[in-house]
Amino acid sequence: MKRSFYLVAVILVLSALMLSACGGGAPAADSGKERGATPAEYAGKKNPVAGSADAAAAGKALYDVNCASCHGEKGAGDGPAGASLSPKPYNLAKAVAETDEAYIYYRIAEGGMMDPYKSSMPAWKDILSEDEIWQVITHIQTFK
Ligand code: HEC
Repeated sequence: MKRSFYLVAVILVLSALMLSACGGGAPAADSGKERGATPAEYAGKKNPVAGSADAAAAGKALYDVNCASCHGEKGAGDGPAGASLSPKPYNLAKAVAETDEAYIYYRIAEGGMMDPYKSSMPAWKDILSEDEIWQVITHIQTFK
């Protein structure tokens, strides 16, 4: 009885060590990323200015001021302020490829306070208007 308790304890300590060796489950820049479902209030949203060069230009100006410090000028996740964050900013071209516009809108609006993200991604819904968020997304959609 005592011995099996000891064994369980050893296994628990070992698995905790293994988990922390993997960075506590933080997504690596180039692997898949854990995402939750898009809440109903955002699901199905569509970019009304998709592909517009004017919207992309307006979005670039907003992105360069508000997002590039963490996400990097081209969205690669390599902005100077992002380097020390955990989890780090993800590559936005990949985020666009792996998700949909409604999810991207939701994440910009609500930020990263909630599960499973728990990140320092700020919420922008009280700072940027809906039109401005779509302009930023139109710019992000040009990242390769
Ligand atoms: C203080 C640093 C910081 C700033 C500024 C910031 N972000 Fe983020 N953002 C993050 C981090 C860190 C993550 C990754 C963790 C997460 O998903 O929350 C993230 C995640 C995201 C995601 C989700 C990506 C995915 O793979 O699911 C999007 C979209 C995004 N940011 C867009 C933006 C936009 C657009 C702006 C500017 C309006 C911005 N971010 C400003 C730190 C930042």
